[in-house]
Amino acid sequence: MLLSEWRKVLAFLFRSINFTRYWLRRYIPVTKRFFKESPATWIMKQADEMIEKRKQIGHTGRTDLLQLMLASMSDEDFIQDRPASFEKIGDTEVETPLVRKITKHEISANIFLFMIAGYETTSTALSYATYILATHPEEQRKLQEHIDAHFDPETEHSMPTYENVLEMDYLDMFIRETLRMFPIVPAAINRESTEEFCIENFGIVPKGTLITIDIYNLHFNPDLWGRLDPQEFHPERFATKRHPMAWIPFGAGSRNCVGMRFALLEMKMLLVRLLKTYSLIDCGEKTHKPFEQLQETFVITPSELCVRLQRRDEQHESGTPSRGSGCGVKLKELENDFKRIEYQDSFCIFRSYMGYVSATLFNYSFVLQAVYRYILIMYPMHLFWQSAKFQTFFIAFIWILGFTYPLAFIFTGDIIYDVNNQVCQIPLQLSFPVVYIAILGAIFPILLIMLIYFKLVRYVHKMSKRIIPLNTLFRARRELKMVRRTVILISILITVTFPYVIFMFMSFFKRHPKSYFRIADAFSDLSLFLVIITLFQFTEPLKTSVMKRVNGRVNMVTT
Ligand code: HEM
Repeated sequence: MLLSEWRKVLAFLFRSINFTRYWLRRYIPVTKRFFKESPATWIMKQADEMIEKRKQIGHTGRTDLLQLMLASMSDEDFIQDRPASFEKIGDTEVETPLVRKITKHEISANIFLFMIAGYETTSTALSYATYILATHPEEQRKLQEHIDAHFDPETEHSMPTYENVLEMDYLDMFIRETLRMFPIVPAAINRESTEEFCIENFGIVPKGTLITIDIYNLHFNPDLWGRLDPQEFHPERFATKRHPMAWIPFGAGSRNCVGMRFALLEMKMLLVRLLKTYSLIDCGEKTHKPFEQLQETFVITPSELCVRLQRRDEQHESGTPSRGSGCGVKLKELENDFKRIEYQDSFCIFRSYMGYVSATLFNYSFVLQAVYRYILIMYPMHLFWQSAKFQTFFIAFIWILGFTYPLAFIFTGDIIYDVNNQVCQIPLQLSFPVVYIAILGAIFPILLIMLIYFKLVRYVHKMSKRIIPLNTLFRARRELKMVRRTVILISILITVTFPYVIFMFMSFFKRHPKSYFRIADAFSDLSLFLVIITLFQFTEPLKTSVMKRVNGRVNMVTT
């Protein structure tokens, strides 16, 4: 009750505002600067102009809808309908059909209706089709094979003809199944009963009752759509003959959608053209989120729908599997490559986040080392700073920092699936997330280590010129040697990952080439490998123990 009252109030307000706006624009032209023309008025004005132009040109031989309407246009502005007349045919009286011309205003109103009924409906239905394609790769593959069987995939720009498209039964079933699962204009299908009638197990429906069909119940009814589960997308179900009223996205009866055949043809043409060249790809969470929020105006649409397009000829070319970060990422990408999967899996974004975390922890572990040596050399008397307690606090701080600083990007949608590299990442470009991660995760720790190193070199150099106990000097030199090793490791990282950095800077200014990340990543993998070897060299006990096993000399004495 309240809702319908509220609707009436809103409708009244809407009409009043529109009327005032229209009146002001028309009679006080200066207000045109402040009130924009309503889209409806704009379309009607365009329609009027089109009619005038066609009238001036005269008969063109075209057989489009406008020409047909113009052919039966009256010069009068208003035509009063006659009362119904009847004629006798044999013994029965039959109502004579109403034959009359249409006015110019009726023609523009029809154009307006066709624009409203014909535009958003088809585009929304196509959006749902793209959603199905992106989320059902197996169905997409089948449809592409079906299209390839009818058209030469090499001739990208050839247009499908009406006859071609009519032959394509699987394409037809695909679109019908999309509209079964997503009937976009259920509210448009309503009727008023012209006489009283009875429905079994329900009762009498009085004359004048407004009736709306529950299309979802109908389209998902297992009795009408079994054996295949109606909740699942299976175009093949249309190969079985169904009840004629089981599928009614275009309405039914004499007042069903006049644009049905046109809409189906339009959608088929577009899907053929699209899928010949491109594949649609899931954007993970973003593709699924829209269905949590549907907007219901004339058509039912998701608030937004995210799918990606990838050229089919580029799909299987991505060569070297990329690092991403960590072994899990590597293996997943390798698996994707082998299986030729071009869409992200559910853990893709999380893995990417973990990649940023592990890279940061890796860099800061060197910082921890350097800071510890710094304290030992510069503040040898501050035993608390060297204590396990203080160092544990430091380690905990770094871990918290490492896990929290890229956390926000999981939720902001900055980490996305890059189909060329088959990895989830923050796209390399001049953006806040890239600069933020680069500074906090890499540049800052590296600069800090370098700074500590240079300070220590100067300090130890000065120490050796002063008169101090030999023991202190020896210890300081030993700690400096450890920091030097850290710097060597960092230098290896920087040198070998240099191509990566170059790619990153390039991407700030121009579109990056395909698979750039994979190529750049190969260098960071190499650098990690070299770092491991160097660490092995630097870790004397480990080296000795491994060498012992390799050489089989159990009793070797090390100095
Ligand atoms: C996927 C696309 C479309 C869908 C799902 C759709 C759906 C519908 C539905 C459910 C109705 C009400 C039918 C009834 O009450 O039984 C309708 C009516 C109508 N549609 Fe469509 N439509 C689509 C595309 C189009 C196109 C492309 C045009 C025009 C070019 C169009 C023009 C109309 C018109 C003029 C009516 C009113 C018919 C009447 O009242 O007699 N529609 N449509």
